[in-house]
Amino acid sequence: MTGRLNILVVGGCGYIGTHMVKALMAAGHHPITLDNLSTGHRDLLPGGEFIAGDIGDTALLDDIFVSQRIDAVMHFAAFIEVGESVSDPLKYYGNNVARTANLLNAMIRHDVKRFIFSSSAAIYGEPDYTPIDEDHPLNPTSPYGETKLWVEKMLAACDNAYGLRAVVLRYFNAAGADESGTIGERHEPESHLIPLVLEVARGKREHIKIFGVDYPTPDGTCIRDYIHVNDLVSAHLAAIDALMEGAGSGVYNLGNSRGVSVREVIDTAARVSGRPIPVVEDRRRPGDPAILVAGSTKIRNDLNWQPRFESLEEIVRTAWKWHASS
Ligand code: UFG
Repeated sequence: MTGRLNILVVGGCGYIGTHMVKALMAAGHHPITLDNLSTGHRDLLPGGEFIAGDIGDTALLDDIFVSQRIDAVMHFAAFIEVGESVSDPLKYYGNNVARTANLLNAMIRHDVKRFIFSSSAAIYGEPDYTPIDEDHPLNPTSPYGETKLWVEKMLAACDNAYGLRAVVLRYFNAAGADESGTIGERHEPESHLIPLVLEVARGKREHIKIFGVDYPTPDGTCIRDYIHVNDLVSAHLAAIDALMEGAGSGVYNLGNSRGVSVREVIDTAARVSGRPIPVVEDRRRPGDPAILVAGSTKIRNDLNWQPRFESLEEIVRTAWKWHASS
């Protein structure tokens, strides 16, 4: 284990960022959150230091890197809506790529050379085969996925040119909430399946639309690999330990390697909540691959990572605890 580290968490007020900050504190580290609060929630930040600001603000970044020694940077400050990235691509290229380049530039200027990047399964596009391993071709089908690919390319070039060591984690479907029930997923507007289904269970929505029931899957609905947010977070802790011990850059899928259909998610949520969940069958949502399941052998072997949340039921139970109390 590494000693107490100063970790700059950009986007620390978001869904995954808040869980990361909590885990960093529990591990004895000092998280410094930088968040512009465009989608994050200051009231959900569990602690550590907070700086309101943007990774596009060069003077602010210089201040941060000069005023304290930063051991590593974790980057959660991206826009994530696939559909919006199609209708407003420059919002995505501007923030997810250009401002990330600004952040990397500041890091290099101040000799901070450890980086953990939240990438996405969206980088693969329509899969040629499943489970998807890290060698699968990268063919993003949306500007959102493209922005993740651009950053991955930038990181490889920065490693080569400046010795920046980056661990890239390609998330599959992040889900669930901290077991405490004090932090969880709060997107506005909400577009992700599990929180939407739980809003139906709470009576805040009348029904859940299933986007496509004619996919080539056993029940006709899309299959995804849902991974608990605290399992994502534990992978970041393992990545930090590896970087501190001198490991080189690496790219890893982050999923449970277990596919679950949209209908199975809905049935599980009905069971966990004990409430009825009315369903409306709708057309396919453009750009949704039928099956996205991670091959996660590499991260299990290299970083000795193991998910704690084995079943979808456990994941949904934590999400329900959060939703029922928020
Ligand atoms: N779905 C519905 N009804 C809804 C919402 C979603 O049927 O109201 C379905 C989708 O069609 C999909 C599944 O539920 O089959 C999961 O959808 P989400 O929107 O929750 O998640 P995605 O798999 O679309 O997106 C996730 C991440 C993105 C990432 C993408 C990679 O949230 O950031 O995986 O393709 F880009």
